[in-house]
Amino acid sequence: MNTLRPRRTREKINRQQSELLVLSRISAALSGLWNLDAILGVGLDSTLDIMNGTVGEILLVDENTRELLRTAHRGLSNEFLEKVRLSLGEGITGGVAKSGKAVLLEDICSDARVAHREMVIAEGLKAFICVPLRAQDKVLGVLNVASRLPRKFTTNDMHLLYAIGDQLGIAVEHARLYERLRKARERMRKLARQNLVAEEDERRRIARELHDETSQSLSGIALQLQALIEMAAIPDKNDKDFVAGLKKVQALTVQVHKEVSRLISNLHPALLDTLGLVPAARKYAETRLQSLGITVTLETRGIAVRFPVEVEAALFRFIQGAVGNIAQHSSATNAGIILEYRPDEFLLTIKDNGHGFNVKEITDVEESGRGRGLFSMRERIGFLGGSSGIESEIGKGTTVWARIPVGQDIEYGENKSPGS
Ligand SMILES: Nc1ncnc2c1ncn2[C@@H]1O[C@H](COP(=O)(O)OP(=O)(O)OP(=O)(O)O)[C@@H](O)[C@H]1O
Ligand SMILES: [Mg+2]
Repeated sequence: MNTLRPRRTREKINRQQSELLVLSRISAALSGLWNLDAILGVGLDSTLDIMNGTVGEILLVDENTRELLRTAHRGLSNEFLEKVRLSLGEGITGGVAKSGKAVLLEDICSDARVAHREMVIAEGLKAFICVPLRAQDKVLGVLNVASRLPRKFTTNDMHLLYAIGDQLGIAVEHARLYERLRKARERMRKLARQNLVAEEDERRRIARELHDETSQSLSGIALQLQALIEMAAIPDKNDKDFVAGLKKVQALTVQVHKEVSRLISNLHPALLDTLGLVPAARKYAETRLQSLGITVTLETRGIAVRFPVEVEAALFRFIQGAVGNIAQHSSATNAGIILEYRPDEFLLTIKDNGHGFNVKEITDVEESGRGRGLFSMRERIGFLGGSSGIESEIGKGTTVWARIPVGQDIEYGENKSPGS
């Protein structure tokens, strides 16, 4: 008894030391890797190396389809890879992916839970360990190690694989976050480029409108005034003709005034500064939609308050984007805008009964500019520390919403919108 204890303690310490060594080797191998396939490939190779194994695979859970996707594999036949596909909860592997509890078997073929038994037998698999890949208590996938030779994996092997599984789970989570960040950055870059293009387009459009309409009307006024000056110099001029000329000048001036007012209002509606978001949104939506035969209603809930200028401007641009899309794409007959003022947040909903579209199609800003509107709208709300979303059903219409916190310190400039 006395001699046994120190030996066991020594063995335990040795085992713990070698486990730590293994984990630090894997951690060193994974460090600096951000690509998911590379992480799983290196992780699987290191695991097989440590376990003296030749057969292994890593499967990740697809959250949408609830299937297990084989992301890395070693030592399995092509037929096995092609035919053995599992979903969450199916067979031993699917069961581990669901429960998060590891399974250790001396002979996988004799276990009642095994799926695709004939394929597993044909593959000659015997001893088998399956552990979950976990990150923050969530099972992201599983790591399988098998042997074709009779062999006994020990519970120590299983504990070690558990630890490796956790390490890999965190690496997978980091790789996914990194990928999301990379994509968001890429999207921001595209958006910034598209915005430059849009800015140039807008300047060109304003220049064209000023030239086509305003500039022509102004030169008309100048000519008319010149004619009137010449007429004034004639001693026995006809007063009737003179008055008619003056009326012409006056009509042209009214026209220029209208054109300039329209341009100014398109650039920045004065109503937004003077009376605020509600009247500005109402006027914009009515002018834009009613001329197309789309009935629009605007409802406010709670007590409308004024927000800082930049917040109202961002909310107005959001409404402009959504209303513009209704006018351009929806074929709707009705549109509704709800502005809801709550004590701690402001909620905006814009709904139409048009033909709808597949929101999942818009994953990025396309070269044509498609997507720029929706992503810009989301970014604007993100800059206000809020979140936004869009739901659409083919044949039923589209709803766009945004919510921003109010009455709290908003960290402008920090994009907190989800999914970015
Ligand atoms: N209310 C809607 N009804 C139907 N389709 C819509 C609606 N809103 C958006 N879409 C679809 O989503 C696409 C992306 O909209 P987005 O505003 O990002 O780009 P765009 O309107 O095509 O271009 P831009 O806004 O730069 O003029 C549109 O091209 C259209 O197919
Ligand atoms: Mg648009």
